[in-house]
Amino acid sequence: MKEKVEALKEEISNYVATNKDQLEAFRLKFISRKSVIGDLFSNLKDVAQEDRKAMGSILNELKNHAQGMFKDLATSLENNQEEASEAPIDLTLPPVPDTLGSLHPLSITKKRIQEIFERIGFNISYGPEIEDDWHNFTALNFPENHPAREMQDTFFIEKDPDIALRTHTSSVQVRVMENDKPPIRTLSPGRVFRNEAISVRAHCIFHQVEGLYVDRNVSFADLKQTMLYFAKEFFGKDTKIRLRPSFFPFTEPSAELDISCFICNQKGCKICKHTGWVEIGGCGMVDPNVLQNCKIDPEAYTGFAFGMGIERITMLKYQVNDIRLFTENDIRFLRQFRSFN
Ligand code: DAH
Repeated sequence: MKEKVEALKEEISNYVATNKDQLEAFRLKFISRKSVIGDLFSNLKDVAQEDRKAMGSILNELKNHAQGMFKDLATSLENNQEEASEAPIDLTLPPVPDTLGSLHPLSITKKRIQEIFERIGFNISYGPEIEDDWHNFTALNFPENHPAREMQDTFFIEKDPDIALRTHTSSVQVRVMENDKPPIRTLSPGRVFRNEAISVRAHCIFHQVEGLYVDRNVSFADLKQTMLYFAKEFFGKDTKIRLRPSFFPFTEPSAELDISCFICNQKGCKICKHTGWVEIGGCGMVDPNVLQNCKIDPEAYTGFAFGMGIERITMLKYQVNDIRLFTENDIRFLRQFRSFN
C-alpha cells in the first residue's frame, strides 16, 4: 500500500492541467468520493490493527497533497486564460480586409438634397405613409371624381372614408400648413406608393422629396431662383434649368422642371433623348384654394412648391439604368457607392 501511495504522490505532483477538462479529470481521479484515494481509505479496514493508525495519517497526508495540488492547478489555469486574452498584438500579421459598408444610393441623394436646402433655411418634415383622402387629395385641390385623381393610381386600404397609401409627398405640405404659421420653408422626403407595374423605369414603391415655401410676397421668380440654386448645387455649377408649363391641381401656374443634360453637355445623348434637357420634377405656385384649405389667408400669403423623384435624380446622377436595382439589395451594386458616403 505504501508503494501505491508513493506512486500516487508522484503522479499528483507531476500532473499538468492546460484546460478545464484536464482539471476535472484530476478532481475525479484524486479528490472525488470515488477517487483512488477514496478507495485507499476504504481499504484501511483490511490493514493490520497495529499499522492502521500510521497508514491512516499517510493517507491523510496524500489527500491533503491532492487537494493542495488541485487548488494550485485551478489558479494557474485561470491566470493562463487571463494572460491569453491579453496576448500582445502581432504587428507582423497581414491587415484585416476593409469591410466598410456604404449608404444606400437613395439615402446618399436624400442626404445631399437635404443639405442643399438646409443651407437656405429649409427644415425637414415628415408625414404618415398611410394617408386619408383629405391630405392626399382633397386639401390639395383634387376635386371629387375628377380625372386628376387617376393621374396617380392609388393603393386603397379602406373605402368610405378613403384611407390609402400616399401617392405623393405633397400630402405633407398640407399637414405642415395645417400645423404651422407662415413663414414656412420645409422639405419633406419620404416613400410613396402607386399601383404601377414594376419595370426598368417604374416601381410601385419609390421616394419623393417635396418642398414648400410660404410667406408674404413669395413669387415665381423666387421659385425659379431656388430651383436653379438646387440644380447647380446638386448637378454641377454649369447646370441650367428650364420650366415648361404643366398642370397640377395644387399649383397655379404649374411647371415641369428640366435641367440641362450634364451627361452630354446638351450635345444630345440617349439619356436626354437628344433634346439636351432632362426632367427632374414638378413645381408651381401654391394654388390659393390649397392655402385656404389649410387655413392660411391667400390674400396675405403666397407660396411655391416642388416635388422630385429621388430614384429619378439618383438614376440621372449616377447613371443607373434600372430602377429595380435600388430594391434588389445586390451587394455588387451597393458597393459601388462606397466612396460617396
Ligand atoms: N406631387 C407631384 C407628383 O407626385 C409632384 C409635384 C408637382 C409636387 C408639383 C409639387 C408640385 O409640390 O408643385 O407627381
